[in-house]
Amino acid sequence: MSKIKVGVLGAGTMGAGIAQVAAQSGHEVVLVDVNEKAIISAKEKLNKIIDRLIEKGKWTQDFGDDLLGRIKFSTEMQDFSGSGMIIEAIVENVEVKHAVFSKMEAIVDKHCILASNTSSLSIASIGSVLKNPERIIGIHFFNPAPLMPLVEIIPAVQTSEKVAKEAREMVDSWGKVTVLAKDTPGFIVNRVARPFYGEALRIYEEGVADFATIDWAMTELGKFRMGPFTLMDYIGNDVNYTVTETVFAAFYYDPRFKPSFTQKRHSEAGFYGRKSGRGFFDYSENAIAVEPNKDEVLGNKILKRILAMLINEAADAVFLNVATNEDIDLAMTKGVNYPKGLLKWADEIGIENVLNDLQELFNEYGEDRYRPSPLLKKMVRENKSFF
Ligand SMILES: NC(=O)c1ccc[n+]([C@@H]2O[C@H](COP(=O)([O-])OP(=O)(O)OC[C@H]3O[C@@H](n4cnc5c(N)ncnc54)[C@H](O)[C@@H]3O)[C@@H](O)[C@H]2O)c1
Repeated sequence: MSKIKVGVLGAGTMGAGIAQVAAQSGHEVVLVDVNEKAIISAKEKLNKIIDRLIEKGKWTQDFGDDLLGRIKFSTEMQDFSGSGMIIEAIVENVEVKHAVFSKMEAIVDKHCILASNTSSLSIASIGSVLKNPERIIGIHFFNPAPLMPLVEIIPAVQTSEKVAKEAREMVDSWGKVTVLAKDTPGFIVNRVARPFYGEALRIYEEGVADFATIDWAMTELGKFRMGPFTLMDYIGNDVNYTVTETVFAAFYYDPRFKPSFTQKRHSEAGFYGRKSGRGFFDYSENAIAVEPNKDEVLGNKILKRILAMLINEAADAVFLNVATNEDIDLAMTKGVNYPKGLLKWADEIGIENVLNDLQELFNEYGEDRYRPSPLLKKMVRENKSFF
């Protein structure tokens, strides 16, 4: 069977990576961007990546040459003609996305799948402008796309089963780990991961511990690859704060997703993180690293609280049929490198213990933010585990 031609719209951070992934799997790829500079820069970056992999002995010169030869770099959307699937990765703006999806649909035939890599917009809304809306789907890669194994597949209410199945099979054939998520804010990863940042910020705001100590508790005792404050500095406080605000609004201001003043102020001050030289931590040349307080009792208290909130979010996503148990655990281990699936972790801790931790927080604060998911209560009543 000959491989379909794949179109990618937007040659920025994500689009260039997605084009590389598809071309690596042998597809003819057309990478289109309105901005010629973005096209030139994407081509230069890809050349560098190929050279490096050849140098390291991972790829042969022929493989690299063939891969590059399969990608057509263009500023003309008309070049999408004949594609079997197009993945859009342009600015996160629904009006601009609407305009490009209408335009793309007019160029391809009716069997072409039209996908969006959006992180925060609804797939149903993006697809609403199509004449054949059953072809819309969310295909959400993680950054950097060639290296991160996870891809969330998000069918909208309009999407046909055939399109959902074909899109998932296609991305699976690219060697990615796919999970199926409902078209709800944040899909799986950007929803379930919110307390990793939010609860860490709240713990800091209450004066329980400083940034370094909270990070130490999560990495040393929890075995997370990066602490929440180091990770927020890495993502950028401006970017991470905006995602939190968007998710909060999209959930009709559910207090569970409430953004933090601490992060807002850091962002307002220009303390974005690594990219600006200062965030929660100082990244300047002669900066002295802040020593954490390595008190294990305090550290375990911090870990237990953040973990309980993460598990609560994961359990609630199961409760509301956002995804299956298996897919939620896969998403968090393969999309954000958690040391363990949250639901598997909950089984190990004991569902009753997790519920008790949440109930204690809820009783202490009286805030809706700490309400335990009804699923955890039901599971304790019925003596069930996730796996
Ligand atoms: N950056 C991430 O970590 C990440 C992760 C997952 C998903 N996403 C999503 O992927 C999408 C792209 O994000 P990014 O970080 O790659 O952005 P980016 O700013 O790096 O790149 C966007 C590119 O789109 C181009 N563009 C803008 N309008 C266009 C148009 N009308 N037609 C053609 N090209 C156009 C721009 O010139 C730019 O090169 C967004 O929807 C974002 O939510 C981003």
